[in-house]
Amino acid sequence: MSARYQLSGTTAVEISAGIESGIRTGALSPGAALPPVRALAADLGVSPATVARAYQELRQRGLLVTAGRLGTRVRPRPPVAARRSALRPPPLPGARDLSRGEPDRRLLPPLGPHLAALAADTGPSVSYSDAGVLPELAEVARARLDADGVPAGELTITGGALDGIERLLGAHLRPGDAVAVEDPGWANLLDLVAALGLRPIGVPVDDEGPMVAGVAAALAAGARALVVTSRAQNPTGSAVSAERAEALRALLAGRRDLLLIEDDHAAELARVPLYPLAGATASWAFLRSVSKPFGPDLRLAVLVGDETTVARVAGRTRVGAGWVSTVLQRLVLALWSDPAVDELVRRAAQSYEQRRDGLLTALAEHGLRAHGRSGINVWLPVPDETSAVTALRDAGWAVAPGALYRIAAAPAVRVTVSSLHADDLAPLAAALAHAANPTPPPGFPT
Ligand SMILES: Cc1ncc(COP(=O)(O)O)c(C=O)c1O
Repeated sequence: MSARYQLSGTTAVEISAGIESGIRTGALSPGAALPPVRALAADLGVSPATVARAYQELRQRGLLVTAGRLGTRVRPRPPVAARRSALRPPPLPGARDLSRGEPDRRLLPPLGPHLAALAADTGPSVSYSDAGVLPELAEVARARLDADGVPAGELTITGGALDGIERLLGAHLRPGDAVAVEDPGWANLLDLVAALGLRPIGVPVDDEGPMVAGVAAALAAGARALVVTSRAQNPTGSAVSAERAEALRALLAGRRDLLLIEDDHAAELARVPLYPLAGATASWAFLRSVSKPFGPDLRLAVLVGDETTVARVAGRTRVGAGWVSTVLQRLVLALWSDPAVDELVRRAAQSYEQRRDGLLTALAEHGLRAHGRSGINVWLPVPDETSAVTALRDAGWAVAPGALYRIAAAPAVRVTVSSLHADDLAPLAAALAHAANPTPPPGFPT
């Protein structure tokens, strides 16, 4: 904890407000340790129960985390400020930034021509009473999902995959409920689960998706929801295989007490087939986002699912944000209807695959086994994340530390390959090999 930040207050509300303000202003940085309950209580002259209530409230809102002997700390990315996580400082000037997990902008389809066409034939603005899901978009989305074997269900539109996941968790779970999430898994999902006051249960992942024994253990531990990334899993690149899908479907068959959420964020950008789990449980939802093929700024995902689940999400949206702008829906419809855009997305997918496979091969030549079956990231296990990230930074490469994505999984770094060139592969693999196998410091032999 910052030596200068003085915690204060005599009630739980005052103490938690003081900590929140410290986090907001940056005086308490992500990862900062807070004093033990009894020590702070003695300092402030209040009972330990008062401090415990303040910590508890901040934990439920995802600002703090308590982890055994590590004590209570500020979460890496607390949901009260837009600050970058201390775990991911901005890259040094001149460094190549492979830490962002974003598609290469040069490979996104240009939006200009479709925006111009939309502008030319847009009529009067849609009114409150007419707005909602655009039937033509629903039809095209259904046809695409149907071709991938996703069962026809009810359909609605959300502001991206994560917005859909938030609405689904909010519709089915209450604070304190447990959610099974992939470990390692998407950092934003871990942040969201914490911010909703839900309890994450990590499910180990291999190249074929969430491991069956891990899902079974999460169910036995009382998970009320399970979130599975269909393909291009972030950070490992894993993709649910046919065999894994069959085994998971058998495990989940007919469950009435579990909400199954599938996140197909890579969608048309994935070069591996989709093996959906959709429909295995009574409550299910399948999300297809357009962020990876068309760019994250479009903020749109299609959500299909069982009747109750979709009605809850659509109904809650109606009484809040209302709907996803039909201007945006029309743009996505235009992109999905243009064969030239399909071709650009296909070429982008091919290019990501070449970069990923190229890096995996170059790492294998150094005797390193990394992961990246699909998507835009490669996951490389390392003995020590901090020293690996530092060594790579010194060599001019910024990568993301695995700590952002892990619960109990082993240390690693995530390397986003989307912007790599062929002649980057050899020097990058050499730098990664050095970071993963650091030369031991001189001294007594062990
Ligand atoms: C696993 C996963 N799901 C979804 C998304 C995209 O979500 P959204 O549609 O909210 O942009 C990402 C983006 O990196 C992701 O890694």
